[in-house]
Amino acid sequence: MPPGDDAGVIRLDSKRGLVETVDIITPLVNDPYMFGKIATVNSLSDIYAMGGTPLSALSIVGYPACDYDIEVVRLMIKGALDMLSEARVALLGGHCFEDTEIKFGLSVTGFIENDKILRYNTPQAGDLLVITKPIGTGILTTALKGQRLKDEDLNEAVKSMTTLNKEASRVAVEGGASACTDITGFGLLGHAVKMVSESRVDYVIEASGIPVFKGVKELAEKGIVPEGAYKNLEFYKDRVKFGAMVEEVMQLVLFDPQTSGGLLVSINREGLRHFDENGVSYWIIGRVVEGNGFVRVG
Ligand code: CO
Ligand code: CO
Repeated sequence: MPPGDDAGVIRLDSKRGLVETVDIITPLVNDPYMFGKIATVNSLSDIYAMGGTPLSALSIVGYPACDYDIEVVRLMIKGALDMLSEARVALLGGHCFEDTEIKFGLSVTGFIENDKILRYNTPQAGDLLVITKPIGTGILTTALKGQRLKDEDLNEAVKSMTTLNKEASRVAVEGGASACTDITGFGLLGHAVKMVSESRVDYVIEASGIPVFKGVKELAEKGIVPEGAYKNLEFYKDRVKFGAMVEEVMQLVLFDPQTSGGLLVSINREGLRHFDENGVSYWIIGRVVEGNGFVRVG
């Protein structure tokens, strides 16, 4: 597996392989139960991004023993167990260690069929480009930390971050998607660049078609943008061509680091029928054309 893949695969036989990943995050919402859910969905996401089926998980908990009530950890684990049961994943155990701040995540193991692995770097010219969740969670949670938003202002984003990519992954596999990844720390455009940079295609993205959570653009206009968005923009900008109409603020929104983001899928129109038939939400944000590994945003 190339290092850019979402998870590692070990081939077991001619049909199946094991797929493994690990992810740990720090709290981004105030409710420990919801944080447990988000961290869990986030940890499972890389398995789904590969087209795999998660089977078992081990929890990893860091917590400052002196400052925190153990109830916080209990609620976090409860959130994790609720999401794992929805995903039909068994929690086999875990490890707890003392840390300066709360950290939570899972190492996850799943099965994958060798001929159904979704690669991130094989998008096909002629496909449509689709995302399955709106973006802007980095900006919203930054605003929450800076007390510019109240907990309830994040309800829509929390609902999205606690939605498994399970169904989206299943229909992407069924629909014969040519490439797929999940949108996380590099932001929508960072992950888009990773997908095209090793291939002979370009992504042509229509900024106005990209779903963004309510209030995100307004916050970005006020300068409430996580440092990661600036870093992503700086790191990937050589591979992105912005049209004159794409404002600087929108460029940052498109590079906003996501937690538990949706899938970014290259798939043909026929394949998208599987999304429609199964009621999986998606937004067509652009198309894949022959090219040289650039992302063009208009
Ligand atoms: Co990933
Ligand atoms: Co990850």
